[in-house]
Amino acid sequence: LFRAAGEDRTNSMGANLANDDTLATLAREMNAALAPVSAMPLVPGAKPTGEKVKVSNPADRREVVGEYLNADAATVELAIANAVAAQPGWDKMPAASRARILEHAADLLEQRMGAFMAICVKEAGKSIASSVGEVREAVDFLRYYAMQSRKLFGAPEKLPGPTGETNELWLHGKGVFACISPWNFPLAIYLGQVAAALASGNTVVAKPAEQTSLTAFLATQLLHEAGVPRDVLQFVPGDGATVGAALTKDPRIAGVVFTGSTETAWVINRALAARKAPIAALIAETGGQNALIADSSALPEQLVKDAMTSAFDSAGQRCSAARVLYVQADIADKVITMLSGAMDELRVGNPALLSTDVGPVIDEDARKVLEAHAERMDREAKLINQVKLPEDTANGCFFAPRAYELKSLSQLEREVFGPVLHVLRYEASELDQVMADINATGYGLTLGIHSRIDATVEKIANTVRVGNCYVNRNQVGAVVGVQPFGGEGLSGTGPKAGGPHYLLRFATERVLTVNT
Ligand code: NAD
Ligand code: ALA
Repeated sequence: LFRAAGEDRTNSMGANLANDDTLATLAREMNAALAPVSAMPLVPGAKPTGEKVKVSNPADRREVVGEYLNADAATVELAIANAVAAQPGWDKMPAASRARILEHAADLLEQRMGAFMAICVKEAGKSIASSVGEVREAVDFLRYYAMQSRKLFGAPEKLPGPTGETNELWLHGKGVFACISPWNFPLAIYLGQVAAALASGNTVVAKPAEQTSLTAFLATQLLHEAGVPRDVLQFVPGDGATVGAALTKDPRIAGVVFTGSTETAWVINRALAARKAPIAALIAETGGQNALIADSSALPEQLVKDAMTSAFDSAGQRCSAARVLYVQADIADKVITMLSGAMDELRVGNPALLSTDVGPVIDEDARKVLEAHAERMDREAKLINQVKLPEDTANGCFFAPRAYELKSLSQLEREVFGPVLHVLRYEASELDQVMADINATGYGLTLGIHSRIDATVEKIANTVRVGNCYVNRNQVGAVVGVQPFGGEGLSGTGPKAGGPHYLLRFATERVLTVNT
């Protein structure tokens, strides 16, 4: 279906795609679901005007995937006004009723998995394995937040009090939430943010990343079909600097949930602080400079397999991805040789093929930033390997995965958002310095540890300040409700998406005291 005759169906990073009838069915559905998408703002009463923006496939820019109309200023204004008016009614709705709508959306999404995989592949360049993960994660977010909503918002918490007095703690929505999402999880993060805000009794004005507006449009339509009223969830596609900024400066916005770069989080934080308005909640999930530390007790085969997945899965366009592999000097030569060999097996190309490991990066701008980084690394670091790009990638935004050996972590100025792994050797006596250097980046998203020595694992895990630490496995693909995900410091405001405390960030608490 997505492969040339004779091509096997297991990709080289070990995604278990072989002999999977379900996947074949999904792939068939995906093939059937590629009609161009025409998206527009979803705001009751709006008459948006302007030019439609064409969206092309990052794997082949000649292929148009669809088009969308940006929300103009009047449309954004109306969306906020609608959301303000609709919020009290949505907040009063029993939590169980809101939860049932989200669960219905999860059912619909599961039924249409092939269609949503198709748009993730075509608009975001995601591989088939990543697209399956993307849809599954979105379904998990919908079901998990529905469950949490019943638990937290279904009934008040009874508090102690003297005889003749009852005390109850109630949770309510804060008001209108602006949901601002990135392109690298166009469905899962978009729906995760929206579902969390809705489950907590807020109305939502959602602005997706410019690059993946079509996926978000289809996801919004799905939520409307599931029963979310159109004035409770509105969709305003557009640029961050115009539509995003219009939302964050508006005094009627009670909270912003943002996932994206640390730099944009700073801009949003400043915009919210400059408003003469009630203090807004900001939930920011941002970038990382994630390390993987391997000592000489690590199993080299497992280490290399996990490093490959952590660095190159999703073309390295995961906030959780490993950017720096610290390897103890005793095993460094062996690990570097094995890493280079494993990279020779990586298959870069059309993400719609089951055999592809690494698809394109999101757009030309991203490719140019990565090429500029590689040019600097070519001068300042030692190339370990650079994967060969096949000829049929010339019309897409492809960047050849690379690994470099560095002299010092300070050679990396900021998050490198793509398939580049940087390797640093360290002596056992330098472990404290390694941990101090990682903490000194200020980021705190993921950390991988490969070691069979419990005391070393414990020391590293208790010293390096990160939100998600993974031992003797890869460090990507956090599972909702299992590995609540999010960082600290420059990586985000925490509590974590897909975790038991997340919805509390979207809620306001009220206490009712009654003298009986
Ligand atoms: P980005 O910061 O460029 O954009 C994110 C969103 O912010 C987009 O919707 C964009 O339009 C909007 N935006 C831009 N300027 C704005 C402004 N002035 N006001 C309001 N909104 C504005 O990020 P990106 O390139 O889309 O995503 C990649 C980044 O996201 C990486 O840094 C990655 O590490 C991070 N990320 C973090 C997590 C996490 O959970 N921590 C998850 C995924 C991605
Ligand atoms: N939640 C995503 C992961 O863990 C970002 O890879």
